[in-house]
Amino acid sequence: MNADGRTRLNQTPEWTALAKHREELADTHLRDLFAADPARGTGYTLRVGDLYIDYSKHLVTDETLRLLRELAAATDVFGLRDAMFRGEKINVTENRAVLHTALRAPRDAVIDVDGENVVPAVHAVLDRMSDFADRVRSGEWTGHTGKRIKNVINIGIGGSDLGPAMAYEVLRSFTDRALTVRFVSNVDGADLHEATRDLDPAETLFIIASKTFTTIETITNATSARQWLLAALGDEAAVAKHFVALSTNAEKVAEFGIDTANMFEFWDWVGGRYSYDSAIGLSLMIAIGPDRFREMLDGFRIVDDHFRTAPAEANVPLLLGLLGIWYGNFHDAQSHAVLPYSHYLSKFTAYLQQLDMESNGKSVARDGRPVEWQTGPVVWGTPGTNGQHAYYQLIHQGTKLIPADFIGFAEPVAELSEELKAQHDLLMANFFAQTQALAFGKTAEEVRAEGVPDELVAHKTFQGNRPTTTILARELTPSVLGQLIALYEHKVFVQGAVWNIDSFDQWGVELGKVLAKRVEPALTEGADVPGLDASTKALVAAYRELRGR
Ligand code: F6P
Repeated sequence: MNADGRTRLNQTPEWTALAKHREELADTHLRDLFAADPARGTGYTLRVGDLYIDYSKHLVTDETLRLLRELAAATDVFGLRDAMFRGEKINVTENRAVLHTALRAPRDAVIDVDGENVVPAVHAVLDRMSDFADRVRSGEWTGHTGKRIKNVINIGIGGSDLGPAMAYEVLRSFTDRALTVRFVSNVDGADLHEATRDLDPAETLFIIASKTFTTIETITNATSARQWLLAALGDEAAVAKHFVALSTNAEKVAEFGIDTANMFEFWDWVGGRYSYDSAIGLSLMIAIGPDRFREMLDGFRIVDDHFRTAPAEANVPLLLGLLGIWYGNFHDAQSHAVLPYSHYLSKFTAYLQQLDMESNGKSVARDGRPVEWQTGPVVWGTPGTNGQHAYYQLIHQGTKLIPADFIGFAEPVAELSEELKAQHDLLMANFFAQTQALAFGKTAEEVRAEGVPDELVAHKTFQGNRPTTTILARELTPSVLGQLIALYEHKVFVQGAVWNIDSFDQWGVELGKVLAKRVEPALTEGADVPGLDASTKALVAAYRELRGR
């Protein structure tokens, strides 16, 4: 029993039932499941908003799904969901509400945190962002010398970078192509160098994105960016026209030297990795315009409403979360691949890595005791078809079970030429072929029938039975992007709820930050840092020698 009165997850009857069921299904192949149910290809599908979700190629039966839903009921996933939407402080280790859903709530919604409705403030910031974005886009907001802003550089890291950087790529065909929009996150000076080397400071706007405004990488890069600007413009007053801040911390923003009149606010109930639809999305809004940004928020809201109201059997985030639990906890799968068949989704999986792995990479339950079950998977993947010519071999024939999401679109983006649009069917033929091959494989008999010599039959056989979800939409729009992100946000939520972990803190990133601060003087000054282990000491010495210090 947990301190919170819950039975430990792996001791619940629902867990035991799933473990037993897993044994019973051990010899079942997807080929058998499809043979037994000709309607499976249409029956095991759901829709949410513009998304068509096919989960027929999963190693599940109606009974599996029933048992998984029972696990969700036993762990009160919907109870925690409702508490989240109500603004309760479900981030227990930081005593904070978790309200990214309020960022896309309609103007007339009422969501209280500590007795105050947060929705008016959300819309007030959105309105200010819209006004600012319009002024930059129209040329009304100029740089210090009166030149039009042609370049926008977002400086931030983690949730203050990955979201807008990903969404900018995804929605590139909706962006104002006259603007150069870049994202700097790495404290490696090369990042800022490459982002600024061909730009005119007089035409460049820096957006400093940091929830805390204390993140060393971001503050260091922002300081260097200010030097770069002032070296060219030579007047401190220029900062006001070339720097804006996105933060929850007005005090630190002012301390850095940015006028808080040029700050766009968000709140501590927005987690960093859940923040790109807050003020953190300003660079994206400038790129695509306020109307498109709001369409994206509408997309988020479609899935929020679905997650909040759809019954368990039809609830897509619940289903996807439970399928992940099925593989991670009952098939020993260690990782989860996300494979978009869209060039524009090139940064999508990198974004999901933070969303999923920073949320659910935990080994202590909400009651403070170690978990005795697997939690979040390693999330990875790059756009197909490139992956097919790199690592798909391991997914098809390796020894590891890797459940995968395939994301594709019926239409190529409108902007492509007719010749390039004609390539889309080939792209999508690969998309469909891969999940088919993964599910059904190729038997030794089939290989033999092709006249393959005996000694090669085993090598050319595909076992199949590799599970995939297919997510299909007509086209990639701002709304569809919002729908996809909300889908994954809530999937991650479901898993954290079942595992009984706090998906909204990130203590695991703190130690490295502290140690970096401590070790830096050893690198720069050769300082004798107390408590440095023998390996790190030797490495620092080697580094100093290589740098001629
Ligand atoms: O990596 C830890 C983290 O706190 C993330 O959760 C966050 O998104 C990132 O650092 C950036 O933090 P901030 O927005 O406060 O600069």
